[in-house]
Amino acid sequence: MAFDSFRDWINQLDRAGELRRITQPVATELEITELADREMKRPGGGQALLIEQPTVNGVVSPFPVAINTLGSHQRMAMSMGAESVDAVAAELGALMKAKPPTSMAEAMKLLSLALDLRHAKPKVVSYGPCKEVIHLVDSPKLRVESWPKAPDWQNPSTINSKPSTLLNLPILKCWPLDGGRFITLPCVVTQDPDTGDRNLGMYRVQIYDNQTTGMHWQLQKVAARHGRRYYERGERMPVAIFLGGDPMYPFAATAPLPDGLDEFLLAGYLRKKSVELVKCETNDLEVPANSDFVIEGYIDPQEPLRDEGPFGDHTGYYTLPEPYPVFHVTAITHRRDAIYPATIVGIPPMEDFYIGGASVKLFLPIFKMNFPEIMDIALPAEGVFHNLVFVSIRKTYPMQAYKIMHGLWGMGQMMFTKYIIVVDDDVDVHNTSDVLFRLCANTDPQRDSIFTKGPSDVLDHATSEIAAGSKLGIDATKKLPGEGFKRSWPPLINMSDEVRRKIDSIFGGRH
Ligand SMILES: Cc1cc2nc3c(=O)[nH]c(=O)nc-3n(C[C@H](O)[C@H](O)[C@H](O)COP(=O)(O)O)c2cc1C
Repeated sequence: MAFDSFRDWINQLDRAGELRRITQPVATELEITELADREMKRPGGGQALLIEQPTVNGVVSPFPVAINTLGSHQRMAMSMGAESVDAVAAELGALMKAKPPTSMAEAMKLLSLALDLRHAKPKVVSYGPCKEVIHLVDSPKLRVESWPKAPDWQNPSTINSKPSTLLNLPILKCWPLDGGRFITLPCVVTQDPDTGDRNLGMYRVQIYDNQTTGMHWQLQKVAARHGRRYYERGERMPVAIFLGGDPMYPFAATAPLPDGLDEFLLAGYLRKKSVELVKCETNDLEVPANSDFVIEGYIDPQEPLRDEGPFGDHTGYYTLPEPYPVFHVTAITHRRDAIYPATIVGIPPMEDFYIGGASVKLFLPIFKMNFPEIMDIALPAEGVFHNLVFVSIRKTYPMQAYKIMHGLWGMGQMMFTKYIIVVDDDVDVHNTSDVLFRLCANTDPQRDSIFTKGPSDVLDHATSEIAAGSKLGIDATKKLPGEGFKRSWPPLINMSDEVRRKIDSIFGGRH
């Protein structure tokens, strides 16, 4: 289901009873975080929040803030216009079933082809509502159209009616020790200068001043690779950041697609309508015509990197300042009635748990094509995305669990996984208690574990060196004779079906 705007998505959440409107003024400095954190910690992720009167330095912003819009399984499914993310995953898997791939690279090629066939290819149009208000930075002639009338819920006397600059957008300062305000749901568009391939990624943006920001693409991410090429070529790197529009845009931006596969293709497939793109005002990049805000600019390879952070991060800890490129703003364009989308990260569970979980479900069929023995994969909230992975397999030969561990560590962003626990196919990997029971019951720690080394998440504060660390894999499956196990493996205790049925028939569901 395609949404025409972020407001359209918000209205859909409202109709479904998934939205809570906050009518009182709430400060973008810390207060929205406190409100949203309490909501995200509710069972199942709580509701989405629309803060109708966010204040920036005490002044009400003309733009409401929406937060936690993807923060539940239900809302993730709604954003895809589906009953469940599993249903979407099954359809995506079926698209490629006709010709099972023989390798991961081939699986990705097939995925790209399959998405193309579904008319998911983005198309370029000449105009979009994201250009309703255009503010050219650094230009003597500012093209700023008049501000929209304040929506009903706002108190017109307190509205900040200055043209939009980075400093009067309702950008959050999330946590007390944060180094400033951060755009937390930015969709960042870059291009490979050699091939012209586009990338869409989500990398947080720290506001330094009215015209410059940090650009936190971590070294293993695609935009960082693009950036390195611009540095090598000594050319200015065009960058476009957009916010809002269809909720599939931020989802696609976070999805760990392989380098070279256009995220707008995935977004188009998921919303069942190809994404319409418009060219930016001050560079040649293209952004969705129906986005709410677009911040255009560039990175100058001559300019030294600048410290970014600290920032209260996904890990539940602050990430300390590290040098990142500086982004210079050349234009801000937006809808008249734009809604500013935000999220917060911190001690889990947070909204990102549901976003990451949907990605895993969607890509499970592709994992399974390469590793047919994989039954299911779970990334529990405590592991914050990829720190901890539970995987169930149908084991048929010795050492198969180790094959899966190495395979996963070698697959895209699964390289960041610190701990992989492999269990048999009768374990529900989404039930952490069940996995821990098998881990404790089925392992001889020394025999069943393996340590290895690899790249680690830049955000991981526990590794001795940034971005490099070790990994632990544990085989909690039933051991086979070929694995050096000389004893008999005992059966798991289970009541017989006959007795269960009898007790059910006598006592029903009461016992
Ligand atoms: C809310 C949120 C914020 C994120 N912030 C960052 C970030 O600041 N830097 C980063 O490198 N990745 C960040 N990520 C993860 C990337 O978006 C993710 O790894 C994505 O696949 C990167 O795209 P790429 O593979 O095209 O580079 C964030 C993810 C989420 C859900």
